[in-house]
Amino acid sequence: MSDGKPPRHVVLVGFMGTGKSTVSRRLAELLACGTCDVDAEIVKREGEEIAAIFAGRGEREFRAAETEALRAVLGAEDALVVATGGGAVLSPINRELMLRRGFVVALTADPEQVIARVSQDPDRPLLQGDVRRRVYQLLEDRKGVYDFAHLTIDTTSLSVDEVVERIAQAIS
Ligand code: S3P
Repeated sequence: MSDGKPPRHVVLVGFMGTGKSTVSRRLAELLACGTCDVDAEIVKREGEEIAAIFAGRGEREFRAAETEALRAVLGAEDALVVATGGGAVLSPINRELMLRRGFVVALTADPEQVIARVSQDPDRPLLQGDVRRRVYQLLEDRKGVYDFAHLTIDTTSLSVDEVVERIAQAIS
């Protein structure tokens, strides 16, 4: 039941391949609440895959769609665990929305682990070509952008359950 106050979502941010989607599902199970993936929401709203939006309409339009999807997701009446795309934090508007409506958790991981994880999914539009170079370049470009989070967890040597446990402790 809503008490008139907006719910406090748990919002997961972090670079591609840091485990946001997996952690969000496991955390939602533990908290017995819903989960929402902003990328999936964009695909649903736009009727196109992420790669197709980047290819056909460009990153700028993708980012506009991302802000709208994020706003809609964070406007949900019941508290959710929300997994965001790695670049959602680039917009100050998005960061402000996340901080206003959620407890923001940044997941980080060693670059080599990120490379190993993202290499299993060749569809990411920003990682076309030399994946290793692109990852290191983007990590450099995005240095510090995840630092606004309330909590940061380095997932490199943690299991999914350990990450989930730390988040659950922080919000209890
Ligand atoms: C992006 C990350 C992707 C997706 C899009 C752009 C980014 O999400 O939103 O390809 O700019 O880092 P994941 O972090 O879930 O891979």
